[in-house]
Amino acid sequence: MGLGKLLHRHEERADAGGTIDRPRAYEIFASIAFAGSRRAAFTRVATAAKPRAGDRILDVGCGTGYLSRILAPVVAPSGHVTGVDPSPAMIEYATRHASGNCTYVQAEGQDLPFPDGSFDLVISSLAVHHIPADARPEALREMFRVLRPGGRLLIAEFRPPANPLARHVIGALSGPAMRHDPRDLLGPLIPDAGFHVESEGDLPYLLYYVRATRP
Ligand SMILES: C[S@@+](CC[C@H](N)C(=O)[O-])C[C@H]1O[C@@H](n2cnc3c(N)ncnc32)[C@H](O)[C@@H]1O
Repeated sequence: MGLGKLLHRHEERADAGGTIDRPRAYEIFASIAFAGSRRAAFTRVATAAKPRAGDRILDVGCGTGYLSRILAPVVAPSGHVTGVDPSPAMIEYATRHASGNCTYVQAEGQDLPFPDGSFDLVISSLAVHHIPADARPEALREMFRVLRPGGRLLIAEFRPPANPLARHVIGALSGPAMRHDPRDLLGPLIPDAGFHVESEGDLPYLLYYVRATRP
């Protein structure tokens, strides 16, 4: 049985991971997948986003809220983290584990229920490959729209291992969701949405990041 069957109650699309509806199973999978380094890996992602005290942060495809819980104390007391995910089970889990300055809303990345310019920083970890391929350009345009001018974007995606055997095993276990090369997956999506790409590259623990700003 592929990982998809464990984490999803319905079929994944061939071009995307789709929603994840089993938060507890996802937490167990993520702990195993990062082999004890999940906290370190996500702390690196959070640091790469360069959060500042007082920031209003949006976490797109927040899942269980793991990354937003790392960012929340950094922007406290005046800053706030809002997470969105289309999975009601993920939103329920994240809300139950939330700290005081985190809020979670059920929504898709390609249809964000926020006014223009509402956030200082938009982050998204391991979620773009879950958005249907034909909706990804709109999702990036939505992230651009809800950022204030000068606002920042940090996308972190899975980077398959270089070792062909490890790559094959992960691909076989994960279904379509984690076979991509992040450079191919993200391609021109970010600049095409209007962002200025500042830096990109590998992070430890099989992650890849792109940091950009809204001019
Ligand atoms: C692999 S999880 C990552 C969760 C979290 N960001 C993390 O790093 O642990 C991908 C998440 O993307 C969500 N997702 C699926 N389709 C989405 C969409 N159209 N817009 C936003 N998120 C989506 C899934 O429900 C899932 O919670």
